[in-house]
Amino acid sequence: MYRVGIIGLGSIAARYSTPDDEYPYCHAGGIRLCDTTELVAVADMSADRQADFKSTWGPGFPDNSIKYYETDVQMLESEKLDIVAVCVRGPHHFEVMQNVLRADIKAIFLEKPAGCSLEEVDTMTAGADAKKISIVVDYTRHWGPHLIRLQSLIKDGLIGEVQSVIGYCGGGVLSFSIHTTDMICQFAGYDPVSVTGFVEGGGNVPEPYEPEPAIVGATIKFENGAIGYHVGKHGVRGAFSVDVLGSEGSVQAGFYSGTTVQKGGNVIDNSTLDLPENASPFKVVYKQITDYLEGGQLPHCSRDDYTAVNEIGFATIESAITGQTIELPCQNRKRLIYANG
Ligand SMILES: NC(=O)c1ccc[n+]([C@@H]2O[C@H](COP(=O)([O-])OP(=O)(O)OC[C@H]3O[C@@H](n4cnc5c(N)ncnc54)[C@H](O)[C@@H]3O)[C@@H](O)[C@H]2O)c1
Repeated sequence: MYRVGIIGLGSIAARYSTPDDEYPYCHAGGIRLCDTTELVAVADMSADRQADFKSTWGPGFPDNSIKYYETDVQMLESEKLDIVAVCVRGPHHFEVMQNVLRADIKAIFLEKPAGCSLEEVDTMTAGADAKKISIVVDYTRHWGPHLIRLQSLIKDGLIGEVQSVIGYCGGGVLSFSIHTTDMICQFAGYDPVSVTGFVEGGGNVPEPYEPEPAIVGATIKFENGAIGYHVGKHGVRGAFSVDVLGSEGSVQAGFYSGTTVQKGGNVIDNSTLDLPENASPFKVVYKQITDYLEGGQLPHCSRDDYTAVNEIGFATIESAITGQTIELPCQNRKRLIYANG
């Protein structure tokens, strides 16, 4: 069993689900259901959050076996961990990640947004490379089991050559709609070359940050010739969904929506696609991480993948501010955004 510690006991760590949920949408639930991970320790400076976690999740683990700490550093210094889940808010990611990267661990599961600037993310990635540690960034909607199966079918030519991917999701460019930025790459490839973006809004933020705008739309050109269209203002169309348009057919799919595959004008019977049963996306990620630690392939949304997604996110903002199409990698790596999701 791989030993996991969670830093930050908020919504995504524990509060979106309870141990009764069949498909928990939180780290504690995924770690609990994954048969290769055990939750050994958690850290949160809020005594209320600790108490809440203890009463909700404690009984869900053998003998209430979890150790509780106030800070990330206390937990990292006291426990021998294999995997650390970083579940604090975006502006705290950089500092916490520096602490985590100093510890003797094997993998990090980092919540989106990866960081508040490209420079922060570059530094984290270089630190992980130096220690040969894998970072996986949590673009959770990626790991719907049916989406992973569709990703593989499309890669193998289900609808011919992918020409366009339209992804739907509004909200903060880096801390919310980035799930759909990842989903566009999931089907178009993780090799973006340029981005033209449109954004709106922002608000007041503490110095020295700039506000995080909401996405209106973005066009992403990929190395393989595919074009991604990120639709921020999508009316009643569900978020976290995509239309994948290929030379021989199309796929409409989403994390919360049904799957429709068309080929040559005919709708394909979904029973021929061998789509897997539903599962907690967190259970799926933790299994991918431990399979990797056993010598398997890199988990999805690891280094090169999250780098590509992050470049698109920051380039969307850069493009909207400068009025230019941004060639990747983005030259301005210092723009510091208050991505507080
Ligand atoms: N993947 C998803 O679908 C999804 C959904 C919601 C949030 N998130 C992401 O998860 C992260 C956390 O968001 P949230 O809404 O759960 O936050 P939250 O505000 O509910 O909880 C964060 C917790 O971290 C604790 N904390 C902060 N610094 C700490 C430190 N150094 N040591 C220990 N504890 C510390 C705080 O006390 C707080 O309880 C953000 O990056 C957010 O974008 C992801």
